[in-house]
Amino acid sequence: MPIRGSLKHLVRTKDVDDVIHQNDDDPSGDDHHTRLSRRLTVWDLMGFGIGIVIGTGIFTLTGTAAKDNAGPAVMISFLIAGIVAMLAALCYAELAAAVPTAGSSYTYAYTTIGEIFAWIIAWDLILEFALGAAVVARGWSGYLQGVFDLPRAFFGEDDSVVNLGAVFIVLVLGVVAAMGIRESKLVTNSLVVIKVSICLFIIAVGLFYVNMDNQKPYIPPSEKVEGASGLKQPLWQWVTGVDQTAYGVTGVLVAAAIVFFAYSGFEAVANLGEETKNPGKDMPRGLIGTLIVCTVLYVAVCFVLTGMVKYTRLSTGEPLADAFDQAGLGWASIIIGTAAVAGLTSVILVDIVAMGRIGFALCRDGLLPPAIGRIHPKYQTPVVITVGTTVAVAVLAAFVPLAVLAEMVSIGTLFAFLVVSVAVVVLRRTKPRMKRPFRTPQVPLLPVVSGVLCIALMTNLAVETWLRFLVWLALGLIVYLAYGRHHSKLHTKIPLERDGADR
Ligand code: ALA
Repeated sequence: MPIRGSLKHLVRTKDVDDVIHQNDDDPSGDDHHTRLSRRLTVWDLMGFGIGIVIGTGIFTLTGTAAKDNAGPAVMISFLIAGIVAMLAALCYAELAAAVPTAGSSYTYAYTTIGEIFAWIIAWDLILEFALGAAVVARGWSGYLQGVFDLPRAFFGEDDSVVNLGAVFIVLVLGVVAAMGIRESKLVTNSLVVIKVSICLFIIAVGLFYVNMDNQKPYIPPSEKVEGASGLKQPLWQWVTGVDQTAYGVTGVLVAAAIVFFAYSGFEAVANLGEETKNPGKDMPRGLIGTLIVCTVLYVAVCFVLTGMVKYTRLSTGEPLADAFDQAGLGWASIIIGTAAVAGLTSVILVDIVAMGRIGFALCRDGLLPPAIGRIHPKYQTPVVITVGTTVAVAVLAAFVPLAVLAEMVSIGTLFAFLVVSVAVVVLRRTKPRMKRPFRTPQVPLLPVVSGVLCIALMTNLAVETWLRFLVWLALGLIVYLAYGRHHSKLHTKIPLERDGADR
């Protein structure tokens, strides 16, 4: 039957060897991916991971999540999100060590569970990185506003008309990414040091200003949200018909789903498998180490923040700097604001570069038109994709509130983690003899728990977030069915006709 053939080629897979060799002529300028020297240690992996992970999640989203959803218990939300991320990291570690190539979950899926899943993940990653860049840009703008006392209408969060600060930084970094100016290792490392130091500074200095009365009630009692649109409800409340509430245990879970954003990005460490000295051992340690450091810093920062300022009085634009301002420590507030502006810049740049990479990989595999993935002869970067996505990100960053964008990133990230958890279990069955330098412990239990927790957090996100996400995925499927399915490089190897499809 043609349908069987059709379905079969939707799950056609790439050969692992092909994946490794395609990097030999990778024109993306990443020629270090051809003959990689295994130089990275677990410390390098952690440095890279922390540099990417710490960003707007802790610097900005903490304020909104505590003020609107969880109160002082936002600490617990960060802890829950950290644990879910950690389980996913253990699944990532097995795939990252077994499929040794740059290309993240897209490549794992392509070599294991099939093209359609790979495409969906890539489409999802574009969402994660594009919206991630927009969120961090708005966070950046909020801190810039605080440092220079700029007009809130163009730089703030709550009263923003059009966020010019976010547009400015996205466009500047889009040009930097298109021109292929990579951050030097020195700059990246310095930014990591700045970000970790500023978190430690906030914890150490802020502790002296903690007033435990501010943390009472620790979990504010659940409040019915009057007159709210049903679409703003978490999915599970909407499905079960329960009234929409803020705070309470529900609020803590909703905040956990929102602040999951703060952990997104650590998967990028998995891309460095080829360059790691001992990936079997260092990859899981690097991934888990990154998450432990970030979780500890996040939880401690939340404790200090909600201890310094009553959650109802937290700023949504620059909560950390503002808390020190409210405590009468203007000097500390300026230090924090400046460090946040510097630290967030690198996250935006990495997101824009990552989007170019994914788009390029899709074009190279024939799933998107090659013309848009063409490498610029002088700059050696996929200029069309980079410029196109930069403009889209700038528009989103200009008009869409940070919390809305962050929810979209959270749902996208959770979905990718869900697919990776499933892939680990599927692969153990379909390719039991594949070489696995690292094995996720307790399979299938751990990946199943990881997947279930991802779904549980996803159901705590708003109905409107789900709708936006489903529209995005549907759009992706249309693009795949209309273009990628017929132009895929694998199609020339296993043409539809041979499968009996499309006749
Ligand atoms: N995890 C990153 C952040 O919090 C994206 O900004």
